[in-house]
Amino acid sequence: MLPVEVPPSHLGPPILLLLQLLLPPTSAFFPNIWSLLAAPGSITHQDLSEEAALNVTLELLLEWPPPGRPRLRLEDYRGRTLLADDIFAAYFGPGFSSRRFRAALGEVSRANAAQDFLPASKDNPDLHFDAERLVQGRTHLVGALRETLVAARALEYALARQRLGAALHALQDFYSHSNWVELGERQPHPHLLWPRQELWSLAQAERKMLVGDPTCSDCEGLSCPGNMLDSTLLTSGYFGMFPPKPPGKCSHGGRFDPSSSQPPRGGINKDSTSPSFSPHHKLHLQAAEVALLASIEALSLLRSRLGDRGFSRLLDITPASSLSFVLDTTGSMGEEINAAKIQARRIVEQRRGSPMEPVLYILVPFHDPGFGPVFTTSDPDSFWQKLNEIHALGGGDEPEMCLSALELALLHTPPLSDIFVFTDASPKDAFLTNRVESLAQERRCRVTFLVTEDPSRARGRGRREALSPLRFEPYEAIAQASGGEVIFTKDQHIRDVAAIVGESTAGLVTLPLEPSVFTAGEPRAFAVDSLLRQVTVRMHGDISSFRIKSPAGVSQGPEEGTGPLGHTRRFGQFWTVTMTDPPQTGTWEIQVAAEGTPRVRVQAQTSLDFLFHFGIPVEDGPHPGLYPLTQPVAGLQTQLLAEVTGLISRQKLVDGQPQFSHVVLRRVPEGTHLGQVSLEPVGPPERGLLAAPLPPTLLSFSAPFSVELVGQDGEGRGLRRTAPQLCNVAPVLLELSGPADFLTPGSKAPLSLHIASFSGSQDLDLKTSVSPSFSLTSNLSRARLGLNESAWGRLWLEIPDSAAPDSVVTVTVTAVGQGASQVPPTHAFLRLLVLAPASQLDGLEAPTHAAAPVPPPATPALLPSTLVTQGRAGRGMVGKAWWGTVGGVLFLLGYTSW
Ligand SMILES: *[C@@H]1O[C@H](CO)[C@@H](O)[C@H](O)[C@H]1NC(C)=O
Ligand SMILES: *[C@@H]1O[C@H](CO)[C@@H](O)[C@H](O)[C@H]1NC(C)=O
Ligand SMILES: *[C@@H]1O[C@H](CO)[C@@H](O)[C@H](O)[C@H]1NC(C)=O
Repeated sequence: MLPVEVPPSHLGPPILLLLQLLLPPTSAFFPNIWSLLAAPGSITHQDLSEEAALNVTLELLLEWPPPGRPRLRLEDYRGRTLLADDIFAAYFGPGFSSRRFRAALGEVSRANAAQDFLPASKDNPDLHFDAERLVQGRTHLVGALRETLVAARALEYALARQRLGAALHALQDFYSHSNWVELGERQPHPHLLWPRQELWSLAQAERKMLVGDPTCSDCEGLSCPGNMLDSTLLTSGYFGMFPPKPPGKCSHGGRFDPSSSQPPRGGINKDSTSPSFSPHHKLHLQAAEVALLASIEALSLLRSRLGDRGFSRLLDITPASSLSFVLDTTGSMGEEINAAKIQARRIVEQRRGSPMEPVLYILVPFHDPGFGPVFTTSDPDSFWQKLNEIHALGGGDEPEMCLSALELALLHTPPLSDIFVFTDASPKDAFLTNRVESLAQERRCRVTFLVTEDPSRARGRGRREALSPLRFEPYEAIAQASGGEVIFTKDQHIRDVAAIVGESTAGLVTLPLEPSVFTAGEPRAFAVDSLLRQVTVRMHGDISSFRIKSPAGVSQGPEEGTGPLGHTRRFGQFWTVTMTDPPQTGTWEIQVAAEGTPRVRVQAQTSLDFLFHFGIPVEDGPHPGLYPLTQPVAGLQTQLLAEVTGLISRQKLVDGQPQFSHVVLRRVPEGTHLGQVSLEPVGPPERGLLAAPLPPTLLSFSAPFSVELVGQDGEGRGLRRTAPQLCNVAPVLLELSGPADFLTPGSKAPLSLHIASFSGSQDLDLKTSVSPSFSLTSNLSRARLGLNESAWGRLWLEIPDSAAPDSVVTVTVTAVGQGASQVPPTHAFLRLLVLAPASQLDGLEAPTHAAAPVPPPATPALLPSTLVTQGRAGRGMVGKAWWGTVGGVLFLLGYTSW
């Protein structure tokens, strides 16, 4: 069964100190680029995963000639470091954003690194090929790869990438922890991905009552080149005290491994180039080379199983984003539903076969009191058909279950997508606001609400006059937190206003306005740099007039049509002005005269943008690196990591590369300056990774803030990019992790919950929820924490026999302050896969034909897949799943061999 996730040192008192929770993990290779501070020149898990993914991506693109562009040539890439932006620019052409691809690689790398940090995985020897648990290690490795496949086939790509990260971690660990390289091997283990094949002659951990095969001799120094006994048995090192090292066995080694001071002293790990961490540091590069080959093999295997299209979706090898609609289907919504249909059709027609063709289409209808199911498809025609089946269904009254539907959409929409909500009602489920905000921030999805408010509907909707003017506040909050907006319009304009759906692409950035808050009569400024195109100003509200002024002093007013600066369109109270390309660089101004507060937003197309995430540097312990965090935590020294996209692949640059030098942090919504920190490159500059420590003042209490990168474009002019989503400082660290094994119907799975405070005492209630509503029990419902204290909880999730196989369960834990506490809620989301018992077997089957782990690539599954997931609480079954013919054949193949 499942191993104990919580290491024995944590089984004692539930309250522990900080040092213990960041205690040394046991794993191989260093986790990420941050680790290079401790051991420069080492190759990390992140390097191996990204390089392998780029290799297989390039292999795939080499076989598919880009539409209307010259085929890529392998010669152009030989002997060069592969870079995502280079490959993208060469394949799709300049100007197409690699953001989502880079983000997908980042998801895989962070999930990989998290194996070294998460309580459920860091100390489990089975997940790291430690302690001679090689057979168990392989079972887990194959299990994680199989979960990747199942999740990808269920169009759950975010989850698939997480499982892929875990699988690659284990796979790479094998080469650093075992003596494979010491045995003289230079190629990946041929049977590591095939559990029915014999692994090797394994050293026995122990024989009945007797000691097992001795494998190491005593080594006194840091470096232990000759400490392996002369043997052809495959073995791996023991770390720490659990399980204890039997006599004669090798240790992992390094100054943080207590077992390595017990005879035989020393160790065998090849994690890094540093002797103080890795007794076999001299073999580090060799181990890394084989681990890279093995990672390439594993990814190629996934490619052959998923087909090229499925594999492209797994790694988001596309500049396009998804199309995700949340549609109110009550009786009054006919016009809006039509508008959504028209937009969908336009997008499908205009983009079919082009790089911007959406990868996935997601639709979540809601109609008081119900919502869902989620309809997900990669086939534009199915989507179109589904939309056409939707009709306004009469009935329904203000308010509606809009946020429940939106939450469902967020759970099924790939990260970095736009979600459009069409409704004319306020939410009935406003209690979900904070959770949906958090989820949108975590998924980095922008949510835009198109709200048609029409007084003439009073009849249909009833009670309109009694409605609170604040009823749309939850939409405002979610739009702001996610970087989207709320657009109020009227029935007769919704079709035109909905055109913004088609204008949104992955390469769209929002330009910050200065000042960020509107004051009547005051102009607001925005900066245009040389890398922006299609600069568009969007305004709505009770606007009587406006004026836009270019840096040269040319101005344009509200006249419709083409003016000196660009083209103006107006639909009722909604205006858009699109500047003629190329826009003049420099500071532009906009002044709006309006009743109340007009909404103004400036957007532009660019491939120069950035992705960001957070982490805590862990410099102590055997595997120093950056502990990935979804958001900064109050009182915990946190690093911001920015990944610049579109940097290398720019068209011919005469004046050099654009560069970001600082990050500016502001309080939201006031716009007050919270500090400016310089950005330092981490790792090789061409990778565009920059880090900045967040200022302690920002981290002293929990509140939202915005992140803006500042630098210079190639011409020495100012360059600014703002993250679309707001960030929050969480009051506490809340971590939820699942079992190392997948779940099956009829099983009960332990989850581990960890909560810690670094900013003073907290008295918190812990609430849980599960979608679909399976039974969940927890032994931690309240946590009283002092400064630097943490508590551990155990949750049991029961998967009923009736659970749909190959479906996803989402568990949410929310920590809220007791009583009148001002502490904002903190959420942790965990997504887990339920596998059919039958599919437990499919991967355990050895290939009957060959020993080679990589079979010849199967025909790419070019047919799309569609899935309907019931979203109503209490059900959550897969209603209907069908696969394209080729996909279906591959799916069946999966059962017979892999
Ligand atoms: C991928 O890696 C393999 C093994 O190192 C190599 O033979 C192949 O040329 C690489 N492919 C590309 C496109 O770099
Ligand atoms: C809490 O932890 C921080 C960071 O490790 C440390 O600097 C501080 O002294 C600790 N405070 C207490 C009261 O233990
Ligand atoms: C909950 O159970 C786990 C595992 O049995 C244990 O480690 C933890 O201390 C328990 N927490 C509480 C608050 O009882």
